[in-house]
Amino acid sequence: MMKLQDKVAVVTGAGSGMGRAIATLYAQEGAKVIVSDINAETAQTVVDEIKAQGGEAIVVLANVAKEEDIQNLIDTAVSTYGTVDVLVNNAGIMDGMEPAADVSDDKWERVFAINTTSVMRATRKVLPIFLEKQKGVIVNIASAGGLNGGRAGAAYTASKHAVVGFTKNTGYMYAEQGIRCNAIAPGAVATNISSSMAGLSQFGAGRQQLGMATNPRIGTSEEIAKVALFLGSDESSFVNGTVITADAGWSSY
Ligand SMILES: NC(=O)c1ccc[n+]([C@@H]2O[C@H](COP(=O)([O-])OP(=O)(O)OC[C@H]3O[C@@H](n4cnc5c(N)ncnc54)[C@H](O)[C@@H]3O)[C@@H](O)[C@H]2O)c1
Repeated sequence: MMKLQDKVAVVTGAGSGMGRAIATLYAQEGAKVIVSDINAETAQTVVDEIKAQGGEAIVVLANVAKEEDIQNLIDTAVSTYGTVDVLVNNAGIMDGMEPAADVSDDKWERVFAINTTSVMRATRKVLPIFLEKQKGVIVNIASAGGLNGGRAGAAYTASKHAVVGFTKNTGYMYAEQGIRCNAIAPGAVATNISSSMAGLSQFGAGRQQLGMATNPRIGTSEEIAKVALFLGSDESSFVNGTVITADAGWSSY
């Protein structure tokens, strides 16, 4: 029996990195996957790969920073596959390692719109579906930077701490209605995320780099996807409102 047989899963930022690995693994485990990204080309490639392996998936383009795109994403999932069972809020960007004195309003607002507000909006949009059937799972991709102070700049760090708080609140609030909401806090993972870094702060990057000496290794997207499969499936039925760190022990120092 596959772990997500006939489940409908929405994965944001699924054209690259962890989102791509999660969409692929979910499809291999029987899910019908809505592969969502801001990048049409990469999202289509992921869907083509899933279909070539005999899986089921569609592309729905969405800029998660836009409320109307979130509305359309979930509405299209429902009109195509009838419902949503699993929502993976994965899309995210880095900041430029800027410490507080160097954060611009633009950078702060952009990072929060993509990393944090999107998580609230997509959650808000799926909850009526989950509440109606008294079942549903949300998996948020937070970060080791959502639990610790030195993994990125001030905006990214604060944005991911907010995701952790939102995850716990949502998990708690709906715990008696068959809904679970958890987060993953990945350590350093080999993806394309550095392409979202602009205007690197030399001072901030220098401070951030100091902690890299204690990082045992860089992880793969597939290793994070396995945690997302656990959290998205009934295997984790007793796990709710919490964060699983997946960082080879980096944060344990
Ligand atoms: N790579 C790491 O070391 C690391 C560590 C901890 C947490 N994370 C988190 O993991 C998640 C996935 O990142 P990744 O490392 O796989 O990066 P990635 O850059 O490889 O993939 C991110 C995807 O999100 C998409 N995206 C960016 N902005 C978007 C928007 N506004 N709307 C929709 N899609 C958008 C990109 O097009 C891309 O396909 C992010 O939330 C990131 O913060 C990454």
